[in-house]
Parts: sequence; C-alpha cells; structure tokens
Amino acid sequence: MTIESYSFAGHTCQITICNNDVLSKLPSLCGCRVVIVGDATVLAHYGAKIAAGLREKGASVHVLAIRPGEKSKNIATFTRLIKKLAAIHADRETIILGLGGGVSTDIAAFVAATYLRGLPLWLMPTSLLAMCDAAIGAKSALNLPGGKNLVGAFYLPERLYIEPSFLATLPPRQLAEGMAEIAKIAYICDEELFAKLEKMPTISQDMDRDIIERAIELKIALVSADNFDKGKRQLLNFGHTIGHALELAKKELSHGEAVAIGMVLAAGMAHKRGILPEADFMRLKNLLARLNLPLVPPVSFKRAARYLLNDKKRLAGQVRMVLPQKIGHPCMDEGAYTLAVTPAEIAANWP
Ligand SMILES: NC(=O)c1ccc[n+]([C@@H]2O[C@H](COP(=O)([O-])OP(=O)(O)OC[C@H]3O[C@@H](n4cnc5c(N)ncnc54)[C@H](O)[C@@H]3O)[C@@H](O)[C@H]2O)c1
Repeated sequence: MTIESYSFAGHTCQITICNNDVLSKLPSLCGCRVVIVGDATVLAHYGAKIAAGLREKGASVHVLAIRPGEKSKNIATFTRLIKKLAAIHADRETIILGLGGGVSTDIAAFVAATYLRGLPLWLMPTSLLAMCDAAIGAKSALNLPGGKNLVGAFYLPERLYIEPSFLATLPPRQLAEGMAEIAKIAYICDEELFAKLEKMPTISQDMDRDIIERAIELKIALVSADNFDKGKRQLLNFGHTIGHALELAKKELSHGEAVAIGMVLAAGMAHKRGILPEADFMRLKNLLARLNLPLVPPVSFKRAARYLLNDKKRLAGQVRMVLPQKIGHPCMDEGAYTLAVTPAEIAANWP
C-alpha cells in the first residue's frame, strides 16, 4: 500500500495494514489507558485477544460492549458509554479504540470526538464495509428516530489498523455489503479496480488484500480532495439516493443491497440518457449479481417515492444523483458531481 497516512483538516491518521499480526504492530503503551468500544459479537471473537495484546504492551484496558446492529447507534448507547467513561475517570489521554463494524466505529468515534472535547481515537474495523468505507474519512455518527446519521462530528482517528484476517468470521451477507461499497467506488472512480473485482475467482472472506488497499486509497483520495462533502466526496453517494429510499421503504433490505439496486437504477438512467454505454451498464449488473446482490427494487416506485423526496439531496422537486459516464468516470454537470433528475425520470426507469 502506498498510503501510510492521510491528513484531514490539519490532523493526520496513521494507517497500518496488518497481515494476521495486528498485535505485533501496536506501539508500546506503558502507562496508557485504552477503552475498547465494540459490539458483543465482535468482542466475542476478538475482544479478549486484542485486550490481552494491549495489556502486553503495557496498557490498562477497559472493554465497553454495545449490542450488535444499527439499532445501537443511538443517543441511549452514547449516553451509557460516556457515563461509563466518567465512572472510570477517563482523562484526556485515555485512548478510545473502536473495534468492530461501521456501527462500532461510528459510535466510538463520536464518543471520542465529544467526551472531554476530544480523546485520542484508534480504530480497528472488522467488517469489510468498515475497513474500506466507515473507518475512512473522519465521519462519526449516531441515528435519531427521525433519520440515520443525523448527529455526528468530523473526527479523525490517530491510528487505523486494517487487519483483513478479521474477515474470516464475517457473515456472507455482511461481506456482500462491503463488496457493494467497493464495487461502487470502483465503478465511479477506477476501471482497473472494477476489472479486478470482475476477475475474482471466488467471493470469500479470504479477500485479495490489494482490493482492500486500493478501495481504501480511493476513498482517501476523495475525502482528501473534499474534506467536508461539498464537492468530489459526493461521488461516494453513487447508488445512495435511491438506495437510501429503498432502505427506508423495505426494512429487510440491508444498506449494501439497497445501494446495489440504487446503482443499477442510476446506471440505467445514465444509459437511457445516452451517457453510459450498454456494455458498461451490463458489466455493473453482472458483477453485482456475482456478488449475490439484488438488482431489482422489491417495492413499487410509489412506495419508494415518499422517502426519495424526503432525501436530503432533494432540491426544488428534483433529486441530485451521481450518474456514471463510463466505468471509472462520473458524469459531470458544469463542474458539479451530481446531476438533477426528476422523479418522473426515476419512475420511468423503475422496473
Ligand atoms: N462514518 C462513515 O463514513 C460511514 C460510511 C459508511 C457506513 N457507515 C456506517 O456503518 C454502519 C454499517 O457498518 P457495518 O455494515 O460494518 O455494520 P455493523 O457494524 O452493524 O456490522 C455488521 C454485523 O457484522 C458483525 N461483524 C462485524 N465484523 C465482524 C467480524 N469480523 N466477524 C463477525 N461478525 C462481524 C457485527 O457484529 C454486526 O452484526 C452503518 O451504521 C453506516 O451508517 C459509516
């Protein structure tokens, strides 16, 4: 991997790519306190091993468990965690270590961003999605009853450990979700990575490390070019406008599944506008199908439209969407990375 660190708003995150050796990559921690924040499933797999490794390096370690799943990413969990930090007298040197999928890394990062106005944050993402997406880019978040990620802060971890061997225990559905996000960034930014995904002999937890590293590099490039979501970073929303609406309209769909369908519909619209060649559209559908991701919305346009028009990307009756021009290249509109799309156009393309 060529990138060993990246900077964000004047801060630097050191990235360590591991090869089943994360513990030996830890620095000396004599006199340090580390609070591990992770979900119960991930802690059952890796919590004791990581805690023992940290202790061996000299740290005193506390482990704070949260319930697995998106439902935990809320104010109640946050309140419980910060009360625990107060109870153990965490100080400004106490390191918060987020260990887990995107839910754990988002909550741990928000706790670190806010407790005592900022504690050192380290992340050890364990899902493919968290390794390539959630743990990169300095966003932390909590959900509110009114919507996802409505509370949050930009907060960069000081250290990020990418240990692909954690994926050995990741369930296949979560693996496919991570693959959806990698396919997304490849389709919109990097034809070479997309071709590499197409050539993968099998889709398994034993992922090609080069693919993970390239996906991380691509996300870093986008967030470095646009720290606060005003421009190029919006490319990460490819498939998300419709995907987000589908997720709300059909609770059984996972985020990655909804994004996969959103990408197919967005690419379909680009093809119909004459922007995206047929062959490139087919390659997207073929890859997503191979990744065991759905291609067709499970609800009618009418059902999804309510959520689509509530989307934060709505502007005066129009939705702004990232549309691909060819694999690896987004379509630009007078310097903007998103194009105006009317609900009628989306409806006309709904299968
Ligand atoms: N901050 C950001 O920029 C950003 C970007 C994308 C997504 N996100 C957030 O990430 C979250 C989704 O992340 P996710 O898909 O990782 O969800 P998650 O954290 O809920 O993990 C998914 C499931 O996989 C399990 N799991 C994770 N790693 C495992 C492992 N190695 N072995 C066994 N089980 C494991 C977890 O226990 C959980 O049940 C969402 O809340 C989303 O909003 C944030």
